[in-house]
Amino acid sequence: MSYILTIVGARPQFVKAAVVSEALSDLNIPEKIIHTGQHYDHEMSTIFWEELNIPVPALNLGIGSGSHGEQTGIMLQKLESYILQEPELPTALMVYGDTNSTLAGALVASKLHIPVIHVEAGLRSFNKAMPEEINRIMTDHISDILFCSSDQGVKQLKREGISKGVFNVGDVMYDALLTFSEIAKQKVSLSDITSLKKDQFILTTIHRPSNTDNEDHLKNIMEAFSKIEQQILWPVHPRNKNKIEQLDLPANLVLSEPVSYFEMMVLLNNCQKVITDSGGLQKEAYWMKKQCITVRNETEWIETLDGKWNTLTGPYAERIVRAVNSNPETNWVPLYGQGFSSSDIANIIKKQLKS
Ligand code: UD1
Repeated sequence: MSYILTIVGARPQFVKAAVVSEALSDLNIPEKIIHTGQHYDHEMSTIFWEELNIPVPALNLGIGSGSHGEQTGIMLQKLESYILQEPELPTALMVYGDTNSTLAGALVASKLHIPVIHVEAGLRSFNKAMPEEINRIMTDHISDILFCSSDQGVKQLKREGISKGVFNVGDVMYDALLTFSEIAKQKVSLSDITSLKKDQFILTTIHRPSNTDNEDHLKNIMEAFSKIEQQILWPVHPRNKNKIEQLDLPANLVLSEPVSYFEMMVLLNNCQKVITDSGGLQKEAYWMKKQCITVRNETEWIETLDGKWNTLTGPYAERIVRAVNSNPETNWVPLYGQGFSSSDIANIIKKQLKS
């Protein structure tokens, strides 16, 4: 086997790559990583690579911000040139999740007849207004090895006519959480991040364009926050910083800079509940046994809805407040594997791509 070429670009992908890279290395499977540069701020990128000890990327494409077409287009061009000037083509190209970096990597590889490995395959929100939904559908349909986080993903791919090369391995983010949350506890304390006290605050992240770029939705979310008793801590995505700071903010809302993965683990561990529109945070809240209120009309992680551990409210004040004032109704059961996803992935890759 020559090497696996991994493409990452956005925050959640750094976390996923950290554990899978380690597992590949444990099996002596050579890997090169390319960072597209989709996320580039220190708090959005560098700090994750440092904390999670991710192997230094062979290249950073330095793409940065831009419209979806522009961002994806430049990635396609730069990735293709990089691959073609390499002395040896990769055995396979691996992508994670559903960002523009995912789609660009998969597309370039498939046009060059390099097998595509998609980690977090088969997820659907059934909302094509989300750029992520387009990215994941396209990526799945040109992938050769598809790693799903649950049986739902396997079933969905089957419905779409994809059954070859599909594996349910659980979720690599669970591996990451199990691996790093104890280290995070030792390295970071709550008081390093905030003056808010354990179990006395709600953690929120809101960054979906459907919420932050729609004035009415943002107003509704602020109204909900103002009616919630607890203090609410919000690490703000840089894209929304200016917009949020100009709003008439409720007194119980505390804004902060984006937090690192370790800081996020510590905040999750110490918060009372989570309000989010992020995909990954819904699962992380579940694994940390925290109730999640999801400010969207749909979720890709439908298993978390059982027993009201996660509630979909959409951007509606009354529904958000009602969900925050309720509690989960069932005992916690493990979801998305047992924390061995990354080693399962590495073993399957080794078998499938035997030279
Ligand atoms: C991207 C993913 C989204 C994922 C999120 C995780 C796509 C389509 N979306 O969304 O699925 O949940 O990452 O965080 O790929 N910006 C900065 N500094 C940075 C990065 C971004 O200021 O380091 C600002 C820029 O103004 C940029 C905007 O954020 O234009 C959007 O960034 P982008 O990476 O395109 O999308 P995200 O909203 O972060």
